[in-house]
Formats: sequence, structure tokens, C-alpha cells
Amino acid sequence: MDFRHQISSPDALASHTCDALVLVVTGDAVDPALDAPLAAALSDALAHGDLTLKAGKSIYIHRPAGIRAARVAFVAAGGSTVKAFKAAVANGIKLVNSSGAKHVAIGLAGAGSLTDAHAEAVVTAARECTYLYRHTKPSAPAASKLDKVTLLCTKADVKAVQLGVARGHAIAAGVNLAREWANRPGNHCTPTHLADVAKKLGKEYALKVEVLDRKACEKLGMGSFLSVAQASTEPLRFIVARYDGAPKAQAPVVLVGKGITFDTGGISLKPGGEMDEMKYDMGGAASVLGTLRAIAELKPKLNLVCIIPSCENMPAGNAVKPGDVVTSMSGQTIEILNTDAEGRLILCDALTYAERFKPAVVVDVATLTGACVIALGHHHSGLFTADDKVAGQMQAASQKSLDPCWRMPLDEEYDAGLKSNFADMANIGGRPGGAITAAMFLKRFTAKYPWAHLDIAGTAWKSGAAKGATGRPVPLLTHFVLAQVG
Ligand code: BES
Ligand code: MN
Ligand code: ZN
Repeated sequence: MDFRHQISSPDALASHTCDALVLVVTGDAVDPALDAPLAAALSDALAHGDLTLKAGKSIYIHRPAGIRAARVAFVAAGGSTVKAFKAAVANGIKLVNSSGAKHVAIGLAGAGSLTDAHAEAVVTAARECTYLYRHTKPSAPAASKLDKVTLLCTKADVKAVQLGVARGHAIAAGVNLAREWANRPGNHCTPTHLADVAKKLGKEYALKVEVLDRKACEKLGMGSFLSVAQASTEPLRFIVARYDGAPKAQAPVVLVGKGITFDTGGISLKPGGEMDEMKYDMGGAASVLGTLRAIAELKPKLNLVCIIPSCENMPAGNAVKPGDVVTSMSGQTIEILNTDAEGRLILCDALTYAERFKPAVVVDVATLTGACVIALGHHHSGLFTADDKVAGQMQAASQKSLDPCWRMPLDEEYDAGLKSNFADMANIGGRPGGAITAAMFLKRFTAKYPWAHLDIAGTAWKSGAAKGATGRPVPLLTHFVLAQVG
């Protein structure tokens, strides 16, 4: 899909050439600046009660009189925020997507200015609602006929719009990469596949990519990661990919992604219902790869390191057992009381490995706990950090990207649950505050750098009829990383 922008004024929209015109109405009345034939059509729809100007409402008009475009969709935003604008644009694209339109032009149904955030929103919304999973369902109908999206803006807004389009493009491509890989089933998305994705990105964008195998991880003393991987016949991969956009001396941003390509729970086996969904337990890894792609494309002046510990969590005769004690790379010992709390076991060694980069900040991203889904549902990712500055940056990025996260507590009191009589810590801390005790576990491995943890168990995936991966939190992470420049 090709994205462009074009200078236009609200009183020239009726003569604009395109297959479909999607016009966002932000106010609660027809804007006097709107071109007469369009204003007439909109007024008529309002007068007949076919459209109300509330968020989520829209109308599709085919071959409207006096208008060059064969199709017009008016979509109400119910406000002038970027969030409302994005939702309206998504509605409009869905309306025209099932028509024969190939070239859609999107603009405001009246006067108003578009910022870089609006432009980013258009691109990400368009790519979001035209993505279709086909990898193991090639019979699926074509995703969309849309091949060109033009953003209509004023001359004064062109620069901002250009910037936003470029950023939106990079983020959308990253989101789609994350979605695609989290959607692929466990037998089509193994640790080896994830390593190949990283290598391919490496070739495309001249990144340094290193993939460690079991032997290399044994040498490094990653006893915790190895214990999770040990019962799978699928070889583990420890992926390290670097984007160098600044001098070597500049401390990098490090992203760590949980890459469990299937989580059965291990010997602490999960119940059968919906176990299929545990193929997205590499959603953290996928979003880190998606962010890497976005950053590599946008080329900001900073250094980024992405670390992905990846394996399957399987039960078998040689599987790690409840009660087993393993030694992590940090030297701290861990009593594994529940083999289903495996995410923290692979992340802790990756967090220790991260120390060698002397990071400016480390963010780990993981579908870590069912408890986080219970606490926050599917709208906000859980944000955990003891660092107020990092928390502020993360919240700012979350607002800018329309990819929300919510800060959760990380007080020392929550650490008590991890006490073990047989090791430095246990890998679970009981059901209450399960997302927090999981974060407290990770915190024990992050003393050497500023750190934040994102629990995306609720936000990386949609259940129900629209079942599938969301590509989150690529937008949040990309904005966070971009904000680390200078
Ligand atoms: N991958 C799961 C967490 C998860 C649950 C992600 C639901 C997405 C949706 C994780 O490895 C896990 O099994 N966590 C356990 C931890 C428990 C044993 C302390 C959980 O949440 O039940
Ligand atoms: Mn698990
Ligand atoms: Zn898991």
C-alpha cells in the first residue's frame, strides 16, 4: 500500500479525483468551509437521521451528486483528539474497503490542521485494518484492494504530515511483522524461525545479528533459560540483534523479548481449553523484532540492542520438575515451584546478559502472566518500573502512540512471596498480585541499569471472533526508543 499526501482545501474536495473520499467530521455540525456539494450531502444525511455526529457513526454514499469521487464516506469522530480521529479513519477505511475502491483519499470534512500524529494515525489505521493472516490459510480472500491512500492536508501542515507518514509507515510495518509471527502456529514459528527473522532483518538493514545455540548458552551459564528449553526437541535460540545509529561509546537502549514459541506449561501442564493460544507466548519477541524493524527504517541517532531468548516449554521425561533448583547466569539460584512460570526463567538470564552492553535503559516485553490480564484486561499493557523517569517516558510514548500502558506497583513488600527455603528465590509468589510478583522476580536481575518491564499478556492478543495477534506494543516501544535520541 502506497501512502501519499496532497495539498487540498476543504472547498475543493468535491472535485478531488480518487475512488473513495473518506471525510472525518470532528465537530457536531456541518463545517461552513466544506465544499457545497459535500456539505449538501452531509446536511441531507443529518436531516434525515441517517447519520448522527457521534463517535463511531458513519455513512457511505455511492455516486453522490456533484462529487467527482465515486464513493464518499463521512465518519464522525465525536471530538478532535488524535485518538478519535484514528478511530474514525479506521471506520471509514472499513466502510470503503469492501467496495471496489483502490485509491482512497482521507481528510477533514472542513477546516482544520493535521499534525504528524494525525498522519501517523492514518497510516497505522489503514495498515491495521487491511492486514490479513494468510500463511497457513492461503485460501483466504485477498486482504484488500486498497493500494493507494492519499492524505489531504493544507500547505502549512505538509512537513508535519510527511514526518508522520514516514513514522506511521515504519511502525505499521513493525506491527504487521509482530502480528504475523505471533499468529503463526508453533510448528510454523519455532525459535529457529525467529532467529531467521532477525537474520533477514540484519541483511535488509545492515544490522549485526548473532544467534547463540544451546552450547553457547551453556558456556555462559544460563542455567535458568536452559532448564525451560531442556525438554523440547526444537533447538533453543538466543538472539542478539544490534542497530548502531550512534557512536559506539553511546550507551544503547536494550529491548528484551520473551520468545516462548509454545507454552504448554511443562510438567505443571496447562489445562487444554484455549491452550492453542499459547502460540503467541513469543509476542514479546515478535514486538521487539517489529520495533527493531521500525527503528532500522527510521534511522534515529542512537544504539539499540535487541535480545530474544527463545525456546518451547514442553513436558517430557527429561523436563525440569517442580522443586528443581537451577543456577541462573547471575549466580542466583532459583527453585522452580511451577514450570508454567517459565517466562521469568528465560528472561532473567537475558537480563543478566544485557549487562555487557552497559545499557542506558533496558525494557523487557513479555506475555508474562494471566494475572495481568485479570488486573488490566485487554486495553492497557502492565508497566512495571522503579524508575520514575523511565515511567514518565513510557507513559508519554504510550500517549503519543495510542498504545496504552498502566503503571503498576513494585514495592519491596511484594518480594516476600518469592522466598524459598532451598534457593535464593522461588519462581512463583502465590496468586495474589501475580503480575507484580513476576515483575519482582525480574527486578532481582536488573540492579545494574535503569529498567522497565511490560506485561503484554492481555494486549498482544485478541480472543473471540477476532482471534489473533495485535502487534502491540510495537507503537509504544518505537515511540519510547525514538524519544531516547539526544
Ligand atoms: N504465558 C503465560 C502467561 C499468559 C497467560 C499469557 C494467559 C497470555 C495469556 C505464562 O508463562 C504463565 O503460564 N504464567 C502463569 C504464572 C503462574 C504459574 C505463576 C500464569 O499466569 O498462570
Ligand atoms: Mn507459562
Ligand atoms: Zn509463558
